[in-house]
Amino acid sequence: MLHDNLSVGENGHLYLCGADTVTLAEKYGTPLYLLDEDRIREKCRTYHRAMKAYFTPDSRPLYASKALSFRGIYRIAREEGMAVDVVSPGELYTALSAGMDAADICFHGNAKTEADIRYAIDAGVGLFAADSTVELDRISAYAVQRGITQRVLLRITPGIDPHTFDAVNTGKVDSKFGSAIVTGQAEEIFCYARALPGVELCGFHCHIGSQIFDEKPFCDAADMMLTFMIALRDTYGYTAEILNLGGGIGVRYTEEDPYIDIDRTLELVGAHLHAVCEETHYPMPKILMEPGRSLVADAGVTVYEVQNVKTIDGYKSYAAIDGGMTDNPRYALYRSRYTVVNASRASAPADFVCTVAGRCCESGDLIGEDIALARPACGEYLAVLVTGAYNYAMSSNYNCIAKPPIVLIAGGVDRLAVRRETFEEMTACQL
Ligand code: LLP
Repeated sequence: MLHDNLSVGENGHLYLCGADTVTLAEKYGTPLYLLDEDRIREKCRTYHRAMKAYFTPDSRPLYASKALSFRGIYRIAREEGMAVDVVSPGELYTALSAGMDAADICFHGNAKTEADIRYAIDAGVGLFAADSTVELDRISAYAVQRGITQRVLLRITPGIDPHTFDAVNTGKVDSKFGSAIVTGQAEEIFCYARALPGVELCGFHCHIGSQIFDEKPFCDAADMMLTFMIALRDTYGYTAEILNLGGGIGVRYTEEDPYIDIDRTLELVGAHLHAVCEETHYPMPKILMEPGRSLVADAGVTVYEVQNVKTIDGYKSYAAIDGGMTDNPRYALYRSRYTVVNASRASAPADFVCTVAGRCCESGDLIGEDIALARPACGEYLAVLVTGAYNYAMSSNYNCIAKPPIVLIAGGVDRLAVRRETFEEMTACQL
């Protein structure tokens, strides 16, 4: 199977970390998001251990909670000693309401409003990743008004193309995020930030993209950032305390995707950072990283019930399910490929090639095309694998479809973490 938390039981059903996905679908209804909590915790520990061992003892992972944001996941993050990256006041609110310590939160975003900044400062967020001089002005003014000093990082675009597809490429020079080194704007914003009252510049942040499968782009980004930091030290006598290298480690969605060893990747990035710092006599900064997808994606499976199977002779076949782009818009948006299994007969040969279609009134509502699985019958369950990241987080109520529940599985025991949305809740804001 694609990941070692997946198996087939003697009854032929698909199991996720020892739990029968068909039994859970019957218990909670479909569509249903399942999450292997043990795996998420194990990944948090891997990042922690590796960053301390290979970077510096105070280096730390921040969970990029845009990948999957609900109270339960922040509780897990907190229990695992993770810091957290949030990109909106809503994520901040959810994290705080789950008991996260504001000091462990970094507030991101390229268009933070005045209200966002005030809310985050009032909450006591530990760090801002500041994107522009306008934002720095707002942080500075409100911090001065409050009589505090706000710690900030500056978001820098190092100009690295990690060779992923454009929609998730964020570290290139023409990005909507941050200030580019080559245009001189990074140096300008550095000088600007240093002169502001109420703001303590702690270092720099970059995020070069997503679905990266080797250490090279991270090493290249680190090179660009360190070269920039060394130039600032030599010109202005400023030494950065923190270098935040963002997220982006890839995840295996299909058999064609490679495996990536997180520990080994961080070991190689760490060795590279140490070598450059030694050579340039730059004190090794505290490294932060912001994994999102690689912490939660392969912990997730979505289970659907098949509503119809049709073959258009000479053309193609469809399996229609009771969910789709409202709970997983990633194929519709990015043509992202998924592995789909007939969860009711997971050991049967995958000899039926079809398009898995969602229930929305829209031809583009697909989970995938050219998908091979055991020919499903109406009422059987399909499992879409590796849906832990950017599925629930990107879900919508299009066609007034209610959001599915999330069930966490820990030590083989399932528990409801987000219940199914009711129509009353879905329409609650409508006057
Ligand atoms: N840090 C920053 C500043 C980011 O912008 C992101 C992702 C991350 C960390 C986490 O990256 P990860 O480790 O998850 O690759 N909706 C798209 C993904 C957008 C990612 C945006 N930023 C998708 O479904 O593929």
